[in-house]
This record gives sequence, C-alpha cells and structure tokens, in this order.
Amino acid sequence: MDSALPSAALPSAALPPAALPRVLVLNGPNLGRLGVREPEVYGHASMADLESAAATWGKELGLEVDVRQTDAESEIVGWLHEAVDAGAHVVLNPAAFTHYSYALRDAAAQVTTADLLLVEVHLSNPATRETFRHYSVVAGVATGTVAGFGFDSYRLALSAIATRLPR
Ligand code: DQA
Repeated sequence: MDSALPSAALPSAALPPAALPRVLVLNGPNLGRLGVREPEVYGHASMADLESAAATWGKELGLEVDVRQTDAESEIVGWLHEAVDAGAHVVLNPAAFTHYSYALRDAAAQVTTADLLLVEVHLSNPATRETFRHYSVVAGVATGTVAGFGFDSYRLALSAIATRLPR
C-alpha cells in the first residue's frame, strides 16, 4: 500500500489505534521507602510492586499509566504542570505534602481547572491518625479522594478515572 496516502483514504481497519488516555500516578516524599517504612501502617510491598500492579490495572482499564515518586516538592509541582500540558489525568499521593504544601495545591488546582481528573489517594486513612494528618490542603481542588485501602486506593482511583472518561 502507498504509505503516502492520507489516512482518510485508508480502510478503517488500517487506521492506527487511538492513543489510550494517560494517567500520571504521582507519589510524594518517603513513598520510595514503601516496604521498609512503618510496614504496620503502609504494608510490606514496595514502590516497584506498586509500579507493576499499576501497569496491570492500566491494561485492564485501558489507561496508559506512568508511576513516579519523588521526595522533592519542585519535581512533583513540575509533573503536575506536565500533566496539564499533556492533557493527562492524575492520581496523586502527596504524602506529607498533603498537609501543608500550598505549592502542590496550586499545581493540583491547575489540573482540575483544565478539566482533567485528579484523584488524591492515601494508603492509610489519615483521618484516623495524628491530628496534623486530618487536614489536606489538596482535597479542596481534587476531583475526589480515596484513602485507607493500601494499594487498592490506587486501583480504585484508576477505576474511577476510567469510568468517567468518554469512550
Ligand atoms: C500518606 C499519609 C500521609 O499523612 C503521610 O505523610 C504519608 C503517606 C498515605 O499514603 O497514607 O507519607 O499519604
């Protein structure tokens, strides 16, 4: 077949498949220590385990999932800007930034005001823990929050995003 043909002239079976919706799964400080850090709170599985579980869930849900972790506030802010510019949805575990980072809140607000979905997730249920964990500065600009279900918090967040996307 002449590869110079415009795609409109190709039979529909030859059209390239549409790109899957992208979701950035962003993780804040100390989450790279999963499996080692307070296993009684956060479990025994590692960030690498989360990456492979998220890849499986992405395949099942028809999402292109990209899992990242950083201890640096500026890096996670940059990734949120990238999500806006790329039209990617976000699953965000802001970790300790949840409770005090207005920079992260302002960056998260840009995602949802761009009509992209942003689901805040937590492995533990911060509402049952120390008082300083009870308030999230991010929650007010998130599409929704899932907390308290370990890795399942991420699966539920991805599933909520997949359910809300037009197909
Ligand atoms: C966390 C809860 C936060 O309070 C804490 O600072 C974390 C992890 C969670 O996933 O349960 O680092 O976000």
